[in-house]
Amino acid sequence: MEPWESTVSLVHAVPRKLRAAVVGTGSRGAGLAKAFQASPDWELVAVCDADPLRAARLSRKLDDVPSFAAIDELLDCVELDAVAIATSHRALYGTVMTALRAGKHVLVEELLADSLERGREMAAEAESEGVVLLAKSAASFDPAVQRMQKVVDSEALGEILFIEARRTETGLAQADRDVFWDLSPDSLAVLDHVLPDGLNPRGVSAFGGDPLGTGRDCVGHVYFRLPNDAPVHLHINRLSHVKSHRLVIAGTRLTLAWDALVVQERLRLLNPGLLGGQPRTAPYWAEPILLQQQDDEVPVSVLDAENRARLATELAHCIRGQRKAGSPNAPALRVLSVLEAATRSRALDGQASAAVAPPPDGQEPAGTGHKSTLWST
Ligand SMILES: NC(=O)c1ccc[n+]([C@@H]2O[C@H](COP(=O)([O-])OP(=O)(O)OC[C@H]3O[C@@H](n4cnc5c(N)ncnc54)[C@H](O)[C@@H]3O)[C@@H](O)[C@H]2O)c1
Repeated sequence: MEPWESTVSLVHAVPRKLRAAVVGTGSRGAGLAKAFQASPDWELVAVCDADPLRAARLSRKLDDVPSFAAIDELLDCVELDAVAIATSHRALYGTVMTALRAGKHVLVEELLADSLERGREMAAEAESEGVVLLAKSAASFDPAVQRMQKVVDSEALGEILFIEARRTETGLAQADRDVFWDLSPDSLAVLDHVLPDGLNPRGVSAFGGDPLGTGRDCVGHVYFRLPNDAPVHLHINRLSHVKSHRLVIAGTRLTLAWDALVVQERLRLLNPGLLGGQPRTAPYWAEPILLQQQDDEVPVSVLDAENRARLATELAHCIRGQRKAGSPNAPALRVLSVLEAATRSRALDGQASAAVAPPPDGQEPAGTGHKSTLWST
């Protein structure tokens, strides 16, 4: 082989780095910007925030990448492949649509939009522009969550008896959203990822409270049933003194317990007694069995930063055509449909509200991924 031939094949083997900017430089945006900057697939070329001081502060931490105060200015001045959006809820729609209409690929870490209708509009816009809109929770890239999905899929748990999810935070109510839209999305995204049919409830009940009189619910409960009638209960609380992000999936044979905040043993498989030959009345938590780590697997204990890095890699794969571009949107739309049903139910004092409605044209939106249904009646 001539020397120039090996150079040519090397050029083909290493794709150019894609160029990204991050819009919204709060805690989420800062995390995404760091993930892009550290990624071998990406070059972080700018940050942008309506608060220029905030953008400048982040820029200083990231090798002084240029900072902008408005997305239009960013798009005019910088050559970009993709924009990661991490603005406040109300600004999501405007910033995402601006980026899509400019022909840029877009990443939104859960939540996609502040309504299902706007989420659908964004998905349709991405499709008509022929660009990728990736809306995913970083938590769904957690190897422990991936592992949880495999265990549920394997039916090792037996029949699911119930699911309990808990997401609590310290601190006061968010300025632009109640606790349902603030804290539920991550838990719902993980549930959607783990359940074989995704989030597909027929009816959702929600109860909330505002004990400090902030003007919006700070404590909430969301309740629905799986297709086999097993109850799912999500507890969310912005006023807690204890931060938590957990999921327990109890089956007739085994129970899975995931805790996002435990660095070691993030995922445990618990034997309620039946496998050890014990009667069902044995103490429920008596025999925790740690999931065996296989040599070729990523350790289940990972930090959020690593999950965001996986999110950035996934976007690069989608853009380079290694994944189906339309598929990332369906889980985000399912999460939005559950949140809207919860909002309707809350207004009706917990009366169950239908979680989803068929799209207006009767068509299933593009790319429902591996989940079997997006819309149920
Ligand atoms: N923090 C969490 O726990 C959490 C969890 C899940 C999802 N998210 C999502 O991530 C996003 C950001 O969360 P955060 O906690 O970093 O929020 P944040 O409020 O700390 O930061 C949002 C930033 O966006 C900027 N911004 C608002 N409108 C803008 C616009 N039009 N153009 C440019 N910048 C604009 C604000 O100035 C602010 O700096 C939210 O949409 C939220 O739903 C956050």
